[in-house]
Amino acid sequence: MMNFIEIAKKRCSVRSYSDKKVEKEKLDKILQAAHVAPTAANLQPVHLITVESKEGLEKISKGANIYNAPLAIIVCADHNKAWVRPFDKKQTGDIDASILTDHMMLEATELGLGTVWVCYFNPDIIRKEFDLPDNLEPINILVIGYSTEKAASTERHEQMRISLDELVSFERL
Ligand SMILES: Cc1cc2nc3c(=O)[nH]c(=O)nc-3n(C[C@H](O)[C@H](O)[C@H](O)COP(=O)(O)O)c2cc1C
Repeated sequence: MMNFIEIAKKRCSVRSYSDKKVEKEKLDKILQAAHVAPTAANLQPVHLITVESKEGLEKISKGANIYNAPLAIIVCADHNKAWVRPFDKKQTGDIDASILTDHMMLEATELGLGTVWVCYFNPDIIRKEFDLPDNLEPINILVIGYSTEKAASTERHEQMRISLDELVSFERL
């Protein structure tokens, strides 16, 4: 059983997948992880579209590279429901959508699945292919499946991330 930091270190972006489908029980657990995620003021301005059929995967592939994975989840923000900060009118829909995405990504990692978070997609094509109403904006696509890549080192972050010193400034009292 991996603890949280072990799961976080194990997760890496996977860009090559086998044909093996993601089992329904695993998809259910991934969706449960999204369901319990926090959102601003608990307004839950998020809608998920799971795509697993041949036709659905073909449709999504018109607007996004999903690396031939057997499953992708389109994470949409609902701009009619999202919280707006009164001071500057900043809307948190994108943030809320991304928290759900991260919860699902880490749950998938725990279940032994590979994932990649995709933002490099054409939103107009995704909108059209999935008949999204104007209030729903596709924010992230979470690509999920069984990896055919060699597992990345769990210690790679020493080289692959900026140093903690650069990342953090500690307040001076
Ligand atoms: C917001 C966001 C958008 C991303 N978009 C893409 C994408 O469109 N295509 C892709 O192959 N990877 C994408 N990635 C994956 C990043 O490139 C990857 O997480 C980063 O290089 C660190 O590598 P690692 O995930 O293996 O630790 C995205 C990641 C994030 C967090």
